[in-house]
Amino acid sequence: MATPEETLREYNNGLPDGLRRHIERMVEEALRLAAAHGLDEGRVRLAVLGHDIARAMAPEELLRLAGELGLNPGDEERAEPMLLHGAVAARLLLERFGVDDPEILDAVRYHTTGRAGMSAMEKVVYIADKTEPGGLKWFPEWSEVRELADRDLDAALLRGLDLSIERALREGWLLHPDTVAARNHLLERRLGM
Ligand SMILES: [Fe+2]
Ligand SMILES: [Fe+2]
Repeated sequence: MATPEETLREYNNGLPDGLRRHIERMVEEALRLAAAHGLDEGRVRLAVLGHDIARAMAPEELLRLAGELGLNPGDEERAEPMLLHGAVAARLLLERFGVDDPEILDAVRYHTTGRAGMSAMEKVVYIADKTEPGGLKWFPEWSEVRELADRDLDAALLRGLDLSIERALREGWLLHPDTVAARNHLLERRLGM
């Protein structure tokens, strides 16, 4: 029987080229961070291979699947269904790909928004999604996050959240409450609150 990793690799072969290459580059980037911070490389690899399996779906498809999988989209997600692609991917991984490691599923679920109290694996997946070389082409300001991430995941995460929030404000995008909660949580800890 195929392992979840084999099944995922097979599935990812059918994704659009750009997305497939993003995932391949991100595996490298995330494994570099996993090694630097003593995380299990196999679990990090599985999280990265699974994180964008719903990224190429149309908005209506994401909303339909979210309903089918028992997710309960909030107002922000109904307005911007792409915000659901992490949560939908996590459910698909559990129900259709045999991935039942809760930490991997959370890393996938929160890879776009972040959330308060992220694990080291969640931080690595959140960061590597933007700091892989292709991501840096779109978000050159994230090279600072990449440098910070080598030695301090929290400092890198905080900078990354700031950049995401600044960009959302600049572009007039919706700001997900989990992103604000992630930043507040880090700041509160830093200030000893
Ligand atoms: Fe994504
Ligand atoms: Fe991604």
